[in-house]
Amino acid sequence: MPEASMTPAAGGASDTPIVVEHITHIYPGGVLALKETNLTIHKGEVLGVVGQNGSGKTTLVKHFNGLLRPSSGKLLIMGQDSAAQPVHTLARHVGYVFQNPNHQIFSTSVQAELTFGPTNLGLPPEEVKVRVAEAAEFFELNPLLERHPYRLAFPLRKLVGMASVYAMDPAVMVLDEPTTGQDHEGSNLVRKLVRRLREQGKTVVIVSHDMALMAEVTDRLVALWSAEVIAVGSPREIFANDDVMQRTKLHPPQITQFTRRRWPGDPQRLALSVAEAVKLMSEAR
Ligand SMILES: Nc1ncnc2c1ncn2[C@@H]1O[C@H](COP(=O)(O)OP(=O)(O)O)[C@@H](O)[C@H]1O
Ligand SMILES: [Mg+2]
Repeated sequence: MPEASMTPAAGGASDTPIVVEHITHIYPGGVLALKETNLTIHKGEVLGVVGQNGSGKTTLVKHFNGLLRPSSGKLLIMGQDSAAQPVHTLARHVGYVFQNPNHQIFSTSVQAELTFGPTNLGLPPEEVKVRVAEAAEFFELNPLLERHPYRLAFPLRKLVGMASVYAMDPAVMVLDEPTTGQDHEGSNLVRKLVRRLREQGKTVVIVSHDMALMAEVTDRLVALWSAEVIAVGSPREIFANDDVMQRTKLHPPQITQFTRRRWPGDPQRLALSVAEAVKLMSEAR
């Protein structure tokens, strides 16, 4: 695929890798899973997607690399209309890590799974080797390279899914419920991954119910409710929004709830971490 055909549209791709314009998604059978959705994702940001089960989070993010196509509306991916681009082209730019790794992984060894993506990008074998080695190291998979992914426990299989997308080095990485089922160590790896991607200037989209993770790593949150975006804002703004919290039935992190009760109605004094709460408490003395 010659890169020349991917020249970004004027003013588009450099600062906005993903622009979602009025997309609606109706599944075969008639389920309306996403309604008239608009969203602009900025380069280098970490964007969280929150909402109850079934609110349309996975449906939304699967549009970003063409796994789903909108029933109406359009998406600009790296400044280009996504409808004109096949999945394999979109996958160069946007990597999607499945909520369920069983839907993603198909190779018979961890090594083969990590090698597949970068090889498919047409990279020279030496470069593929480097990428696979880096991904295996980062996700601590070196002792497991010869193992069959299906013989690994679910959380490890999920890390293999993350590592295989990481090895492709996409500009945008989408993580669908990355910490679900992970123990402390696995969750820390996810946090380390987001920090690394941020340092590299990548754009990250995380779908999660883990509000502590969201408070810690995201710049903005998108709240979905019943197939619609009902709010977009900083984690502080979203956690301070009673209407959004009630409709989505989400609970801010405990430390955030604590400072809300301590200073009701003052979104400025809303802590996202224990360190922030300690600072607020000492200032209040
Ligand atoms: N392949 C599918 N076919 C039909 N309906 C689906 C399919 N996938 C998801 N849905 C429905 O679409 C809605 C949104 O699902 P989903 O995007 O998976 O939500 P979330 O990720 O927020 O839990 C739900 O009502 C779900 O049952
Ligand atoms: Mg989902």
